[in-house]
Amino acid sequence: MASIEFRKVTKSFGDSTVIKDLDLTIADGEFTVLVGPSGCGKTTLLRMIAGLDPQTSGAVLIDGKDVTQIAPGQRGVAMVFQNYAIYPTMSVRENIEFGLKNNKVSKEERTELVESISATVGLSEYLDRKPSTLSGGQRQRVALARAMVKKPSVFLMDEPLSNLDAKLRIQMRIELIELHKKLGTTFVYVTHDQVEAMSMADTIVLMNKGVIQQEASPDLIYREPNNRFTAQFVGVPADECRTAGHGCARISAFDRSRRC
Ligand SMILES: Nc1ncnc2c1ncn2[C@@H]1O[C@H](COP(=O)(O)OP(=O)(O)O)[C@@H](O)[C@H]1O
Ligand SMILES: [Mg+2]
Repeated sequence: MASIEFRKVTKSFGDSTVIKDLDLTIADGEFTVLVGPSGCGKTTLLRMIAGLDPQTSGAVLIDGKDVTQIAPGQRGVAMVFQNYAIYPTMSVRENIEFGLKNNKVSKEERTELVESISATVGLSEYLDRKPSTLSGGQRQRVALARAMVKKPSVFLMDEPLSNLDAKLRIQMRIELIELHKKLGTTFVYVTHDQVEAMSMADTIVLMNKGVIQQEASPDLIYREPNNRFTAQFVGVPADECRTAGHGCARISAFDRSRRC
């Protein structure tokens, strides 16, 4: 388990500064969701935690330790992407085991780990199959299992469900919440979908154009938005509700305390 801290972090690509002087602390063991419109800098933040694309200035700390000089593989983080990144020519077992290959884990220990983790994500029956014979949800589970086998102290997930159909997405959301409870590890989950954020997060970090708009629990961010952007993103501001009644349906799932 580990907390993550951004201290005055700036990230530029050439002349373009995408994130400027960002301060953020992600609590140990929580399910934190980074949410915001496309292009607001969510993936950039995740990649800085993973060490795939270092910050231009400022510091990123994992478990209180500045990781600027630490290679991605040594940070104790595992990342799961939208497009799974699993290997089509390897079996499910080989894909999961692949996460361990570089870590000099004994064959016996590898087998045991692969089997216990496959059971956790419901893949025990599929270990000898090729990914092409699996459903989208099962493939996503392979990607998750491959991340889990490394026993990371932080899971980073970048829109991991966006390639799945709506029904499966809802099922996988529930499975991820369960998985988080089971593992008790820090999860940092990126999505542009406010419903996903509201239904999964302990803490939501809402971003716009590289700037954090609000950091709060789903309940608080909905009931007490800091600004208009937040109010619009997580619901429909009251004055707009009155003129555009159809908007209310969109937020009905969360509309327990507020009436339009
Ligand atoms: N490698 C890169 N080179 C140049 N610009 C980039 C690069 N990666 C991201 N950006 C820019 O940074 C901004 C934030 O991107 P990103 O973090 O991918 O947003 P999000 O994940 O929220 O959709 C965007 O304007 C994007 O064009
Ligand atoms: Mg992204």
